[in-house]
This record gives sequence, structure tokens and C-alpha cells, in this order.
Amino acid sequence: MSITYKQVAAGVALAFGGLVSAHAATITISCGNNAADVEFCGKFAEEWGKKNGHTVKMYTPPASTTDNLALLRQQFAAKSSDLDVIMIDVVWPGVIKDHLVDLKKYSKGVEKDHFPAIVANNTVDGKLLGMPWFTDAGLLFYRKDLLAKNGLKVPQTWDELAAAAKKIQDGERATDKDFQGFVFQAKAYEGLTCDALEWVYSYGGGTIVDDKGNITINNPQAAKALDAAASWIGTIAPQGVMNYGEEDARGVWQNGKAAFMRNWPYAWSLGQAADSPIKDKIGVAALPAGTGPGAKKAATLGGWQLAVNKYSKNVDAAASLALYMTSADIQKKRAVGGSYNPTIPALYKDGDIAKANPFMVELLDVFTNAAARPATATGLKYPEVSNAFWDAAHDVLEKKSTGAEAVKKLEGKLKQIKKAKW
Ligand code: GLC
Repeated sequence: MSITYKQVAAGVALAFGGLVSAHAATITISCGNNAADVEFCGKFAEEWGKKNGHTVKMYTPPASTTDNLALLRQQFAAKSSDLDVIMIDVVWPGVIKDHLVDLKKYSKGVEKDHFPAIVANNTVDGKLLGMPWFTDAGLLFYRKDLLAKNGLKVPQTWDELAAAAKKIQDGERATDKDFQGFVFQAKAYEGLTCDALEWVYSYGGGTIVDDKGNITINNPQAAKALDAAASWIGTIAPQGVMNYGEEDARGVWQNGKAAFMRNWPYAWSLGQAADSPIKDKIGVAALPAGTGPGAKKAATLGGWQLAVNKYSKNVDAAASLALYMTSADIQKKRAVGGSYNPTIPALYKDGDIAKANPFMVELLDVFTNAAARPATATGLKYPEVSNAFWDAAHDVLEKKSTGAEAVKKLEGKLKQIKKAKW
């Protein structure tokens, strides 16, 4: 009996398969914070699994970063090995630092290709706790067609935005009673911290706590910013915005039911999808400035990293997956296909990325100058600080207190959280 080439190949494959499976691991990756990205993230992770003989399982974390962190902290407390690679928010490294693997041993210096500020953010006590995956900044999405129809320019201040939103809303409501002027994130969670920091910082009211750890929120400009936002609720924004996260705002916007939206870059690619009712009608700009002393345009810095769970049973394979997913090749694919901003400066010169996402190049300074939440200064206490801030902002939006009352009370609360030091 002669042995065919096919049989030899099959035998080799079997032996090889056996070898591989001895080392084959099942790696669970937590990623995707909107429906589209779950699929997108999974696709590349599975690609890595096939290439390396590992099985990849997807875990979809809660869409709210606040709920996501709460669940993770429970898992860490139980030293759970369920997750291997974990998508972590830019404000988390100082909070969950004790539960993550130092990736320096695996990265072999490749982090030097990424924005140094993000690498610094992810480095705690000399340990590289997350590979930068994508960066975010709050953006103003507007309807080009509706601005043109009303003879309006892109608003440069929040007052201009409120006036433009009102004008467009009044006109559109003649035929669509559900039409909204402006949608954003005002649910009591981390997303509101991001939006409200933009209002406060754009009015020259600082960043809640400064770089040195001083509590700065009790100032007239911060109060004015919160009062301005409160005036939008029920006028240019629906009452329901008080319960909106990113995806709620995007739902209204992408249905063609809003003139303006504050959201992160990912909303661009979804809005431009073939089946999107607002395809080719979307403009993207920097968020408006406040008014008064110190006013400027502002965006909150967001973004996600891939980290490895210290309690994982497969740290080496998990680190390899984290590095694969954060590589220039995958970042480019995610930028072109999902408008996720790369964390590698060189990619901002890539023609394909620029073509798919003109705003990434046009608004590069928005991304590089975005205001950081005070996570580094407040370390482990950041979640409490943020929670106190979003509660204060929510109270003002609900008209339970004025901006001035809220920032005074918040200062007291932050002093209690800080005690002697952060
Ligand atoms: C985005 C940002 C993240 C932020 C979150 C708030 O996911 O990337 O940094 O914390 O929104 O909802």
C-alpha cells in the first residue's frame, strides 16, 4: 500500500495538532462595549487563536464602564481566573493595579511606539499594567444637512449650541414631534463624569481635583457650567437624557432624531454604515467652549487598554493576545473598520485611516490635548471621587440644587473622601 502525500500531510497535521493541543489554552477576553464592537473584537481575537492553536472565548462586559468595574472588582476579590485578557478603562490602572500582570516582560519595548502619555497613565509603580488599545476624546457630532437648512455654522460656544439646537428642533418638530436638539450622557455613572468635566473645564472651572491633588471644584465657573447644562434639560435635550449612556444617545442620533450629539469617536463609523439613516449627513467638530474667564474648548480623555488578569491560568498566552490586539496592524483595522482612534502616533499619518475617519486627522489636537479625569492624582479613591462628582452634576441637572450649592457640597464630600491624603 502506498502512502499518498495527503495521508502523510494528515499524519503530520495530527502529530502537530497533538503537540499544539498539549500547549493549547482557552483564553477568555473581555472586550467590546457596544454591540458592533463585540463582533469586531472577537474577529481579531479568534484570528490570533487560529494562528496560535488556542481557543478564544469572548466575554462581553456591561456597556457601562461603572458596572463593568464593579463586576471586575468582585472577580478580583475572589481571585477568579475566569477572564484572561481584560479591556480596562484609562481611569482604572491606579484602582485595580494589584490584580494585573506587569506586561514589560512581554512587550519588549513595543510600548515606545504608543503615545507616551497613555503609556505613563498605564504604568503604576514602574509596572506596565495595560497595553494601549484605543484612545478617546469627547466630540461634537452635528447634522451637516440641518445646519445648512437653517443657515447655521458649527457652534463655537455652548450658548451658540443651545441656540442652534433650539432653532433646528423648533423647525423639525413641525413634522417630527420627537425631534431633539442635543443628546448626550447624563445618567448617573462614569459617562456623566466625562460629559460634566467637559462642561466644567470648558468654562475654565478646572478638573475637580488638580494634578497636585488639590480639590478645585468649588469655583464660580464650575458652578456656571453645571447651571448651563441644567438649562438644556427639557428644552433642547429630552428629560430622558438623564438616563442616557453612550448607546442611548447614539440610538436617538442615528435614527435621525437629533441635531447634535456628544459622543466618542466610535459613533462615527456606525453612523456612516450603509444602513444608517444619517449616512453622509454627519459632521464632527470639537465640543464648544464655555464663556467667561478661562473659557476654552474641552474634551475629556477616554480610552481603553488591554490588561492581563494576575489570577489567569494562562498568563503567557494572554499577554501574547493582548500584544497582538494592540499591535499597529490590528489598531489600523479597528480604526478603518470601527473608527477606534489608534494609540500609535505613526498611524495618524496612514492614508487609509485618514480616509475612513477624516476627523482623526482634522481634530488631532483635540485628542492630544484632551483633559484627563483626576484618576492619577486620586489613585485608589478615583471611583469615589467620580461618583461624588456625577452625583453632584446629576443633582444640578435634576434641579435639586444650583451649580453653586452643588460644587460647595461636593468640595465637602471630596474632603471627606480624601482625609489626610488621596
Ligand atoms: C468611553 C471612554 C472611557 C469612559 C467611558 C465613560 O468608553 O473611552 O474612558 O470612562 O466612555 O462612559
